[in-house]
Amino acid sequence: MYSERLDKRAFDELRHMEAEVGVVPNADGSARFKIGNTEAIAAVYGPQEVKPKHFERADRGIIICKYDMIPFSVSDRIKPGIDRRDMEISGVITNALSRAVMLEEFPKSMIAINVYITQADAGTRCASLTAASMACADAGLPMRDLVASVAGGKIGDSIVLDLTKDEEDLHEEGATDVPMGFLPSKNEVVLLQLDGKISQEDLKKILAIGKVGADKIYQMEKEALKRRFLDENKS
Ligand code: CDP
Repeated sequence: MYSERLDKRAFDELRHMEAEVGVVPNADGSARFKIGNTEAIAAVYGPQEVKPKHFERADRGIIICKYDMIPFSVSDRIKPGIDRRDMEISGVITNALSRAVMLEEFPKSMIAINVYITQADAGTRCASLTAASMACADAGLPMRDLVASVAGGKIGDSIVLDLTKDEEDLHEEGATDVPMGFLPSKNEVVLLQLDGKISQEDLKKILAIGKVGADKIYQMEKEALKRRFLDENKS
């Protein structure tokens, strides 16, 4: 039984969010997205020449994304450097964003994205994808839609949205984690992963609360981009 969440949120409630673009002056586009105690900062460079050259595609551009947790992002200091988990998360962010950015408009080019997790309390791949998507829009890249990403899951008998690390670790309750990414206005899913076991029926419920949560994140993303645009027009 998981009848009340550890942080007293409703089962379908997101943590407090902050979204901001243009946070890295030296990048072509950048964004910060914070949800609860998880924060991601993304910086986009390009379109630029492809390096290494053998990754070049004649018909389209490519995205190369690097995800990294900075050593002080969790209470046990993380060993600096890229591990298997970082590589896996970099890959899923790259795949999801490649569905959003119109890469066919940049043949023989590369868009490089760096995402840093400054604070981690679960859901870092989702926060990274949301931040990277805002950063691509901030860089002025043509996109089919923004990506809005959040994790859902099941703890005990309850379907929950936006799990914290403490919730993920409620092993005796059998927490299941499902990171999701949506192109909200297209109603497309660009990220879907599963850590744990789930029935088809519960997965549908998780996707449904995930989409509602993603729509709220989408609003935050659009508001952050609008604020940036209005500020630029003022100065
Ligand atoms: O972060 P996300 O939920 O996308 O991925 P995860 O691999 O399921 O990691 C869950 C959480 O574990 C992270 O968000 C961090 O809070 C924590 N973690 C950690 O404390 N130390 C690590 N080396 C990796 C993850």
